[in-house]
Amino acid sequence: MNPVIQVTALRKTYGSGDTEVHALRGVDLAVWPGEYLAIMGASGSGKSTLLNVLGCLDVPTSGTYKLDGIDVGDLNERQLSLVRNRKIGFVFQSYNLVPRTSALSNVELPLIYSGLRRKERRKRALAALEMVGLLERAGHKPNQLSGGQQQRVALARALVTGPAMVLADEPTGNLDSESTAEVLGVFDRLNRAGRTIVMITHEDNVAAHAARMVRVMDGQIVEDTAQWRMSGALTS
Ligand SMILES: Nc1ncnc2c1ncn2[C@@H]1O[C@H](COP(=O)(O)OP(=O)(O)O)[C@@H](O)[C@H]1O
Ligand SMILES: [Mg+2]
Repeated sequence: MNPVIQVTALRKTYGSGDTEVHALRGVDLAVWPGEYLAIMGASGSGKSTLLNVLGCLDVPTSGTYKLDGIDVGDLNERQLSLVRNRKIGFVFQSYNLVPRTSALSNVELPLIYSGLRRKERRKRALAALEMVGLLERAGHKPNQLSGGQQQRVALARALVTGPAMVLADEPTGNLDSESTAEVLGVFDRLNRAGRTIVMITHEDNVAAHAARMVRVMDGQIVEDTAQWRMSGALTS
C-alpha cells in the first residue's frame, strides 16, 4: 500500500532577498489511505502553504511530493490539473460557491470537463448532495442556505469527482457551533466510509474529530501524534 501523501524535505520560500519568507522549512510527512489528520499551529506557521502544496495549488521550492505514488514534480501543467481534478477535493473557509446558481449546478461544476453526459453529471451531483444530507436543497441558491449548508454544498462539490482525499483549510472557521457540528458530522461519516481527510484547524474541539494531529510551527512539524503512538508502542 502506498501513502496517499508522501512529502520529503519540503521547502517553500516566498519572495527573494530582503522580502524572503521561509514558509516551509523541511517538512516530512506521510498520510495513509483512510487517515483523518488535523493540522494545527499558530497563524503564519505555514499550514495553508503546506495544504496548498498537498492540493497541487502551489509548487514547493524544493523537496519531493508523491501523491498516490506519483511524483508530482514530474508532471506538466496539464497533467497537474488532471491530478488536481481527479484525486483532490478542496474545501476552503469561505465556501467559494458560485452565487445565483443552484446548489446542484455548483456541485456539477467540477464535472463539466469530465466528458460525462449531462444526465450522468446530474446523477453524480445529486448523489454527492445526498451524501452531505442536502438532497432536498438541490434547487436552492447559496444565499438561500445557511453557512453550514453552504459549506456542505462545497463539500459535495469537492466529493463529486470521487477524489482520493479531501483537503480542508479551516472549513468551520466561519461557522457557529451548530453549523460546525453539522459539517464535522459529514467529515466523520466520510472518514468512516474510508475517505482520507486532511483538515487545518486551530480549534482543539475540531481537531478532536481527527485520529491524528500534526502541529506546525515556523514552517516545521514539531509534533505528530501518530509518531507518539508509534514510539509509545515501541516502549510499552
Ligand atoms: N503568497 C505569499 N507571498 C508571500 N508570503 C506568503 C504568501 N503566502 C503566505 N506567505 C507567508 O508565509 C508564511 C506562512 O503562511 P501560511 O501558510 O498562510 O500560514 P498559516 O496558514 O499557518 O496561517 C506567513 O509568514 C505568510 O505571511
Ligand atoms: Mg492559513
